[in-house]
Amino acid sequence: MMELAVQPQKEARRSEEAMDSELSKLGSNLITKFHVLMRISQIYDSKNVALNQFIQESLLAINTFIQREGTLCLKIVGDDIFLNEQRLRYSVEGFNSFKYLVIQWKKRFIGDVLYKEVLDEETLREFIYILMGLEEGREENATLFNEKLRERHISSIEVGPLEVSEREEGAYILEKEDSREVAKKVFFETIGTFKEVMTNIKGKQHADVRKLKRLVRKAVHLVMEDESILLGMTAIKNYDEYTFNHSVNVSIYSLAMGRRLGFSRGVLSELGITAMLHDIGKSKIPLEVLNKPGALSDEEWGEMKKHPLTGVEIVLNLKQLGEVNARMVVGIFDHHLKNDLSGYPKLFRKKRVSLFGRVIQIADAYDAMTTPRIYKKVPFTPEQALAVMLKDRDVCFDSILLKMFIGLVGVYPIGSLVLLDTHEMGIIFKPNPDPQWIERPQVVLVERNKRGKGLKELADLTERNGGNGFKRSIVKTLDPNKYHIDIAKYFL
Ligand SMILES: [Fe+2]
Ligand SMILES: [Fe+2]
Repeated sequence: MMELAVQPQKEARRSEEAMDSELSKLGSNLITKFHVLMRISQIYDSKNVALNQFIQESLLAINTFIQREGTLCLKIVGDDIFLNEQRLRYSVEGFNSFKYLVIQWKKRFIGDVLYKEVLDEETLREFIYILMGLEEGREENATLFNEKLRERHISSIEVGPLEVSEREEGAYILEKEDSREVAKKVFFETIGTFKEVMTNIKGKQHADVRKLKRLVRKAVHLVMEDESILLGMTAIKNYDEYTFNHSVNVSIYSLAMGRRLGFSRGVLSELGITAMLHDIGKSKIPLEVLNKPGALSDEEWGEMKKHPLTGVEIVLNLKQLGEVNARMVVGIFDHHLKNDLSGYPKLFRKKRVSLFGRVIQIADAYDAMTTPRIYKKVPFTPEQALAVMLKDRDVCFDSILLKMFIGLVGVYPIGSLVLLDTHEMGIIFKPNPDPQWIERPQVVLVERNKRGKGLKELADLTERNGGNGFKRSIVKTLDPNKYHIDIAKYFL
């Protein structure tokens, strides 16, 4: 009977998830082009020739889309952009453009723009300049905008206001939380920067890791402040950017563990950067092997197993890493050794796996298991992954550290989907710091309004119902894949 309340919502799914990747790429490209144009229009006046090239490039992107789909509609709903009714996914490269567009439109109370037919150069130019020329904070901007378009005899574009519900939503608007915004920025910037470093190393170019170090210091600061915020970011599993996303996640888990181990900020920074670089040796493995959907041949496995040692070599050659101490090098070398040394590389003489190595091993296994991969599209739920790790604990992990890790991610790890006794579904958002209330974390309730947009309402499970009981309690965990819920969305 309880299950009735949580039937998979196929309709909502169609409108919200599963955007075909081609459309998604076109969308990203469009947003980036808009971003550039909006920025440039603030530097040059509308007649400046410096603009031409950007106008041409944007026109191509816009018109290609219109020719394909008939019309082009961009709409802001919450923090998301919908392109012709489909939500665009965030991408690492696109993140800044997304943010910029959403912020600029919201400031001007513009909620959507519809292009009804193919545009010409002059129309696009006028459009951008009217948009950016709007006074911020004026509610009637959309009407003014449309009037200005008509004055210029432009009938191919129509603008709509930002919907009221988007301006003032419920009591808890997660996007307004400050540290969360900082964390998001650090998270995406780190993935982008790490990607650059990895690409440079791959191309045998000089890689600058100073920025990466700076970002890790920021992450250390965030983790010291509130570990749950960055931990929440690890729920954003980006399938297309696996290696980069994975490295950053492993770094976040390692930092949170290091904090609980009582490491100083200095040691935490070292651990963070070591964890981030743990798979840097993979930059020398051909992509065909790295992303192979099927099983690896013996030879390919041989290649794969070299990555800890290759990683050590690379790190020793990274000039700006500053003082590379033994802890960092050994941490990278050790991360696949396993507790009983049955992993790789094979050692000639027995040794104890280093502390950095043991920490990274756990973080690495957990993140790898909970992330969809080319060869395993449906990942383990956090609960399943922890169960597997517990089963393997003597072979693979340091059992004390593993216990600590489970305490850290919680009985209900951040990002788990749970069923509540109120028949609502919730996503674990923040563990309860009080060990006594470990089973009563904060959850985001999974609800959808008519348009299928997920509302982000936060509920604290320690809340009482007036009598002796609690307002809501967890009944069990659910598999998000079954219910077609995009967990990442709730952390963006
Ligand atoms: Fe690895
Ligand atoms: Fe890894």
